[in-house]
Parts: sequence; structure tokens; C-alpha cells
Amino acid sequence: MISYSRVTNKDIEDIIECYEKYLNNGEPVRQSIRAAFARNGYLGYKAMDGDESVGYFTFQDGFSLTCPNALYEKEMLQAIGEMRYVTVDALMVNDEYRKMGIANQLAVRNLAMLREHGIDCFVVEIWVYPDGSAPAQNVYEKMGNVIYRKHAYGFYQDSEQYGIGCPICGKKCKCSALLEVIRLGEKV
Ligand SMILES: CC(C)(COP(=O)(O)OP(=O)(O)OC[C@H]1O[C@@H](n2cnc3c(N)ncnc32)[C@H](O)[C@@H]1OP(=O)(O)O)[C@@H](O)C(=O)NCCC(=O)NCCS
Ligand SMILES: [Zn+2]
Repeated sequence: MISYSRVTNKDIEDIIECYEKYLNNGEPVRQSIRAAFARNGYLGYKAMDGDESVGYFTFQDGFSLTCPNALYEKEMLQAIGEMRYVTVDALMVNDEYRKMGIANQLAVRNLAMLREHGIDCFVVEIWVYPDGSAPAQNVYEKMGNVIYRKHAYGFYQDSEQYGIGCPICGKKCKCSALLEVIRLGEKV
């Protein structure tokens, strides 16, 4: 049976290991996760099968994009206005445990947690694979109303220059990102 609990600083190394396997790899990834925990700005849920972690859905305080982009940042912050927000750090489920509803379960718990923290909305960079699929889009969009959406083609073309690699493409990343701000809804 899968159990769900909040992430703590004991999870840092495991989160980094999964992040580098399933999302992006490189020193900036490790630094950003460690720094967020150090300033008490990392929150989210993990899914466990016994002693083994099988999924994470986490957030960081403040605004961050994998590849900095002043234009998108300005537009997204404008959409956010005075609202309190966090940014999605990771959503990843162990490949042997996918399509079992784990991401949805993590989302339900995060929605309650974000509300308890007085958060109004979140920033998310949804990964669009080279084939155009975006497997996580449903999970995020069910958490509320999309108040900003832009498909950023070629978003990761400079990721190599930031020391970031893609688990699908390697150094020259052909993926793109759907940049969204989602205002929290009442329920998933
Ligand atoms: C995306 C990911 C987290 C989904 O986790 P999961 O536990 O398999 O998802 P769930 O079983 O809870 O399904 C959640 C929803 O997404 C849909 N979904 C799941 N995998 C999908 C896929 N490959 N393509 C399209 N939709 C998909 C499900 O149909 C479901 O939709 P519904 O709620 O409308 O029925 C998982 O595939 C993963 O870790 N992928 C690699 C990392 C990644 O892409 N992370 C997202 C970064 S933005
Ligand atoms: Zn890629």
C-alpha cells in the first residue's frame, strides 16, 4: 500500500537523486534544492511503498525557472500581482509506479497543504516532451484555474550553458515548457 507524508530535510539526497533521474540533472539542480531546504523554503509530499520512496510533488518559495527568462518572469509576476505564491520544484513518480493515481493523490494533499500555508497560486513549468506530450499537465490544471499560460518553444535550448541536462535528450534539449500560473481551486 502506498502511504503519503510531508517531505523533510532527511529526504534531500533522495529528492536530488530522483530529480536527476527523472527531471533535470546538474549542479544547479542540487544547489537549488539544498538552498531551499536551508532557508526553510521547501515543502511538499512524498509517496512511499514501505521504506521506498516512489514519488514526490514539491514546491519552493519564490520564483524560479530552469532557464532564467526575464520576459516570461515579468509576465508571470504580473499575473500573480499581490497574491501569495510558490513555484513547483518537482513532480515525479518512479516509472514502475506510474498511472496508478499517485501524482493525483500527491496533488490532493498538496492542495490542502498550500491552503493551510495561505498560498493563493503557484508557478509551474510543465515539461513538454519532444513528441509534444505533457504528461503532468492534467495533474496541475486540476488543482485550480490557469490564470497565465504560454507555450515556450525552445525553452531548454540554452540549458547546457546553465549546466543542466535532460534525461531524454541529454545536453541538447529539444523539449519545451508550458509556463503556467495556477490559482488554487477548492478541491481536486
Ligand atoms: C507525470 C507523472 C508525474 C504522472 O504520475 P502518475 O502517478 O503516473 O500520474 P497519475 O496516475 O496520478 O495520473 C494523473 C493524471 O495524468 C494523466 N497521465 C499520467 N501519465 C500520463 C501520460 N504519460 N500522458 C498523458 N497523461 C498522463 C492520467 O491519465 C491522469 O489524468 P486524470 O487525472 O485526468 O485521470 C509521471 O509520469 C512522471 O513522473 N513522469 C516523468 C517526470 C515528469 O514528466 N514530471 C512532470 C514534470 S512537469
Ligand atoms: Zn529534453
